[in-house]
Amino acid sequence: ATQEKFVNALPLPSRIYLDMGAALAMPIRETVQWSGLRDSDGGEMLTTYYGFEYQGVVTAPGPTIIARSDDIVQVEWQNQLPNDAPYILPIDLTLHIPDLGESTPQFIGQKPVVIHLHGGHTEAESDGNPDAWYTQQYRSTGHDWDKRVYSYDNSQEAAGLWYHDHVVGMTRLNVYAGLFGMYLIRDRNEDRLIDGAIIPDDDHMLEIALHDALFDDAGSLYYPGRHGQPINPIIKKDIADNWPDPTVLDEFFGTYILVNGMAWPKVDLEPNRYRLRLLNGTSARSFVLEFDNGMDFFQIGSDGGFLNRPVRLKQLVVAPAERMDIVVDFTDHAGEQIVLKNLGPESQFRGFVDPADPAGSTRLVYNRGGDLALIDGSGGLVPVADPESAGLVMRFDIGGVATRPSRLQAENFDPSIALRAPLELLLRDDPRTVRQLVLFNLRDDIGRTLVLMGTMESGSLFYMDEVTEVIPEGSTEIWEIYNTTAAGHPIHIHQVQFQVVDRQEFDGDLVFRNQQFMNDPERTFQGATLDLHGLKGDPIAPQPNEQGRKDTVLSLPGQLTRLVAHFDRPGGYVWHCHIVTHEDYDMMRKFQVTPNS
Ligand code: C2O
Ligand code: CU
Repeated sequence: ATQEKFVNALPLPSRIYLDMGAALAMPIRETVQWSGLRDSDGGEMLTTYYGFEYQGVVTAPGPTIIARSDDIVQVEWQNQLPNDAPYILPIDLTLHIPDLGESTPQFIGQKPVVIHLHGGHTEAESDGNPDAWYTQQYRSTGHDWDKRVYSYDNSQEAAGLWYHDHVVGMTRLNVYAGLFGMYLIRDRNEDRLIDGAIIPDDDHMLEIALHDALFDDAGSLYYPGRHGQPINPIIKKDIADNWPDPTVLDEFFGTYILVNGMAWPKVDLEPNRYRLRLLNGTSARSFVLEFDNGMDFFQIGSDGGFLNRPVRLKQLVVAPAERMDIVVDFTDHAGEQIVLKNLGPESQFRGFVDPADPAGSTRLVYNRGGDLALIDGSGGLVPVADPESAGLVMRFDIGGVATRPSRLQAENFDPSIALRAPLELLLRDDPRTVRQLVLFNLRDDIGRTLVLMGTMESGSLFYMDEVTEVIPEGSTEIWEIYNTTAAGHPIHIHQVQFQVVDRQEFDGDLVFRNQQFMNDPERTFQGATLDLHGLKGDPIAPQPNEQGRKDTVLSLPGQLTRLVAHFDRPGGYVWHCHIVTHEDYDMMRKFQVTPNS
């Protein structure tokens, strides 16, 4: 398949505005859609996706839902995936996946889905728990399934959330297949910013949902993991004979960058100021975004709401599942074509390197504000995205004149303006629980990467192991996440919007021990605990654009990442790595908030 870049128009998702009490039925269906691929004769090659239907049209990613803070809305995510066609991607049947009894391996007959509102302060019954999956007509349901119609009370401030599939052991596949979309919450503070023309209005706002993909010669979505088939043009990784066929692999990198479902699109804009709602919906890729003319821009919001003040940037790191709300001023760029580039690694994100550090440093330290250098923890260079493919994202073609002047005038955007009532660090309970949680990079009994999490006391644990994070309703807790692996992991906690307190390097040894697989005492591998010797150096403050509300944070190798969160909804939730190949095997843990009675 061939692909011309910056020719096809950026698809703009439909926007669904939900008022108090609204009830929305959102069917989930198989669809074919054009991602910009052409065959050798120049004909359009269509790709099969799973998507969301709105007003008779199925799209992947789905429409943008826009709700108001504190308005209760109901959504039924209706599973209408076909029962007579094979599942479109390779399922590793040896993972912890839904048990569909009589179904064939390719899930002909029934296909499970469950939709999670990522970043939502959502009741447990509507949270889209991995084991709350269901098939068409709710014929089969997971053991945590509770109800058909989800209730979102939107009890949080204005923020850019996203919805996506969360089926246990299959999230990497269902999201790659297209089951995600954006969900924006509005509030009075945001109205004030828009009405005052301080930030662009909805006509000057663009959803920018990023993901990466591979396609086979027929234009179908390609997902590596079958014996005898290539892994990926860039990452070499062998599939051993004794691995399952298909098998989960520890990471996925696609060389096609899709924006709202279209590979390397362009968008025609006026010379004006625009608000871009960025979402990283990839499996493992962290983007390092920058405009090719070097122009700067302002970040105004992070995962869970507005920043205190705009943060001026030339380069922006967006890890899997993170959202960034930015304002870009194209006013002085009439007639120009401006490419958004990705300078990120073609591997898991290793960390920010302090440019003041000598080159070849083996120390990963957090960048307090210079440009990024891509040096890994051993001093070697991390491969950077190919500048001809994954190094390109999209193009902004700026017209000569604004035909419809925006109310936004340059003088209205003061970068020192307060975007909100100041957000103070949430450190109010005393004494408070401090949890020490650890990330481990291990190998399973057949040599595949197995990244697990656990507590300092327990060491590595599986998703189904006993719940160790039991939290009394209403408590504020500090979570210290010790990353003993060689890579960065974007850690996401359900229910809460947390704040990043700081990061700090630590010293310690891994102590290996025999660990059994859940439910299979025959299978053992080398699990680990961390023997912590101590902390090194000073705590490192979060980057200015990480000082707002977050639900996903990069935990960098060799560091602990300290978060503070307030848990005020009882019930069972999960926290996990948002590299979805890790999440599926088995880098996810449950937590339980126990009700006050
Ligand atoms: Cu974005 Cu647990 O999910
Ligand atoms: Cu991970």
